[in-house]
Amino acid sequence: MQCAMENLFAHTADYYDLDTRFMPGTDLDLYRELLEIQGDPVLELASGTGRISIPLAESGASVWALDKSPAMRAVLKRKRAGLPWRVRRRLHPVAGDMARFSFLRRFPLIIIPFRGFQALTDRRQIESCLHHVKRTLAPGGLFVLDLFAPRVGAAVSESATDERIDWVYERPETGELITRASRRRGIDTERRILHTEVVYYVETVDGKRARRADEFSLRYYHRWEVETLLCSVGFEIIAEYGGYDKRPIHAGSDMVFVVRATQKPSALRIMDS
Ligand SMILES: C[S@@+](CC[C@H](N)C(=O)[O-])C[C@H]1O[C@@H](n2cnc3c(N)ncnc32)[C@H](O)[C@@H]1O
Repeated sequence: MQCAMENLFAHTADYYDLDTRFMPGTDLDLYRELLEIQGDPVLELASGTGRISIPLAESGASVWALDKSPAMRAVLKRKRAGLPWRVRRRLHPVAGDMARFSFLRRFPLIIIPFRGFQALTDRRQIESCLHHVKRTLAPGGLFVLDLFAPRVGAAVSESATDERIDWVYERPETGELITRASRRRGIDTERRILHTEVVYYVETVDGKRARRADEFSLRYYHRWEVETLLCSVGFEIIAEYGGYDKRPIHAGSDMVFVVRATQKPSALRIMDS
């Protein structure tokens, strides 16, 4: 059995923003909409390079951006340094573990965008994260959790795959030619963990070549498992979507849960899809 890796982008953080550059802005739109309703400050857990935190701070919110990875935080800090002072002072990078964190303040909105929660592969960490979120929410606060569900074909094709090229891109600032490739290293179907390797081949303008790689272990969920988990910790599900545009959940779609803490463990409410 393969050991689960920590998903900290130690060698590939500098390339993360290239991966997400084609992402439609719709997840940001959903967080903006919820921010409008809930007000700030916002806590983003597993905030990475600030893909979401920076625009939220630019739109006027105070944002705490917590991430465990020194490499990802370094990218965020670099980007933050280039922001106008009025935005910078609203954006607070925090070194921390989403499975165990504490703040003196409480937040009306806590978010874990873009599958960050799936980096937790151990059951105790997973439950601990949800308990910490619950105790850090302000009364009436909302928590948004975004996960992917593997497509059936992908989930059952358990063994390692060959490396496949995902995209090739010429970075305009540096002229580097970057080829991103990935391969499945295996699936632990018992613990529901996908093991993947992501590789960036970088060729500089003067012909130097480098290979930057990280291995990732991501836990995948069935919708019912998430619903049961959230309810067992004491969250009430307000809405669940199959995407940021609020489409219904279907096999292989994203799963976006919007939940609120309740006083006691809530009865599981089955949502219509
Ligand atoms: C896929 S990135 C998402 C980044 C960002 N939220 C976004 O939407 O672009 C996942 C992030 O989770 C962070 N991470 C992994 N394990 C973590 C943990 N235990 N606590 C906090 N952050 C963690 C990684 O460092 C990485 O920045």
